[in-house]
Amino acid sequence: MNILILGGGGREHALAWAIRQNPKCDRLIVAPGNAGIANVAECADLNILSRAEVLEFAQENAIDFVVIGPEAPLAAGVSDALRDAGFLVFGPSQAAAQLEASKAFTKEICDACDAPTAAWARFTDATSARDYVTAQGAPIVVKADGLAAGKGVTVAETIDQAHQAIDAIFDGEFGEMSVVIEEFMEGEEASFFILCDGTDCLALGTAQDHKRVGDGDTGPNTGGMGAYSPAPVLTDALQDQVMAQIVRPTAAEMARRGMPFQGVLYAGLMIKDGRARLVEYNVRFGDPECQVLMMRLGGQILDLLLACAEGRLTGMSVNWADDHALTVVMAAQGYPGGYQKGSIIKGLDSLSETSFEMTFHAGTAAEDGQVIATGGRVLTCTGRGATLAEAHRRAYAQVDAIDWPQGFCRRDIGWRAL
Ligand code: AMP
Ligand code: GLY
Repeated sequence: MNILILGGGGREHALAWAIRQNPKCDRLIVAPGNAGIANVAECADLNILSRAEVLEFAQENAIDFVVIGPEAPLAAGVSDALRDAGFLVFGPSQAAAQLEASKAFTKEICDACDAPTAAWARFTDATSARDYVTAQGAPIVVKADGLAAGKGVTVAETIDQAHQAIDAIFDGEFGEMSVVIEEFMEGEEASFFILCDGTDCLALGTAQDHKRVGDGDTGPNTGGMGAYSPAPVLTDALQDQVMAQIVRPTAAEMARRGMPFQGVLYAGLMIKDGRARLVEYNVRFGDPECQVLMMRLGGQILDLLLACAEGRLTGMSVNWADDHALTVVMAAQGYPGGYQKGSIIKGLDSLSETSFEMTFHAGTAAEDGQVIATGGRVLTCTGRGATLAEAHRRAYAQVDAIDWPQGFCRRDIGWRAL
């Protein structure tokens, strides 16, 4: 098969690395890719947000299967354009991608299918939103809905903070906005990844990430500084509860609305007293959660993604080894604020690449025979082992072998489970 993966981060490096291991994969192209991906696949310079450009590329290269990594091309309808032209695609339609793009949409779906989640209300003006917060009290969560989605979440400790967040959204640069106010949920967060083929759903795996930039979960939020899988807090019983009360009802409601969800559903969950509630959905693999999942799944992922795209998940199963994986993100100093690009990363050649240790590249490019940093999150050092401690040791051994003074990482990834 000729396979095209869209994206160029650590998630796509991990996907490419795992898919490459499957004998069904003949030719593998990743667009745009990065310096690490170039070691396992061809990289193609392509504007992955352009439906026309992606379609033309897929036609010219006789692509049999397209795997869409990030959310932006999904929200831009690239999967629809490809499917309409007859391509086999892994990734939801633009309509179904609203489960990530719109907080209010997800809340409406949860209400319609009675899925447990935080109580919520939506406002289109600041005064009613402020009055609601005053009546509810703090802590409370304020989320921008619409185009700023994903960037505008404030977990407010005080009514004052919540009011400021509301004002910022309505004064903001985002144009027409609405705000979703949610009950603050206490508990432990974990991520659950489920394949959905439009009708059926298959639990793929669990992970936990570390969103804050600093050791001890301090400092500003990031896209994720590390992750590990499995997430012990998501017991089999809890996974069953989530499948029965949240995931399957969501899939059924989406199908009922004529927008069946086909792809990976990433359920962010809050767990307390042996019960899980939905925090949010994403419509793609998490980054860096994908790295730990792929490290554990290996080449079978291609068969699973194909079954998902072809609507034949029923009867499929995931072969899990009794193993653990852990990944540590190396980021450019300054991230998630401003950071410099172009610094040289050394020591990568000394790293072994096996099914137990892989440094996936997140933001790198090759320049004059050297690897340079091109992003905020730059490398994801990933280890696997029989225990989480072993995976942890292997991941940090990679970190310690990399010579990159302009980078940093958290030293405590996995602390909660270790
Ligand atoms: P979201 O973009 O909706 O995932 O929100 C980002 C982060 O804010 C989540 O990962 C949670 O840590 C936190 N968060 C969001 N909604 C809530 C909620 N209702 N209660 C508590 N924490 C929340
Ligand atoms: N690591 C969080 C995300 O991918 O959204």
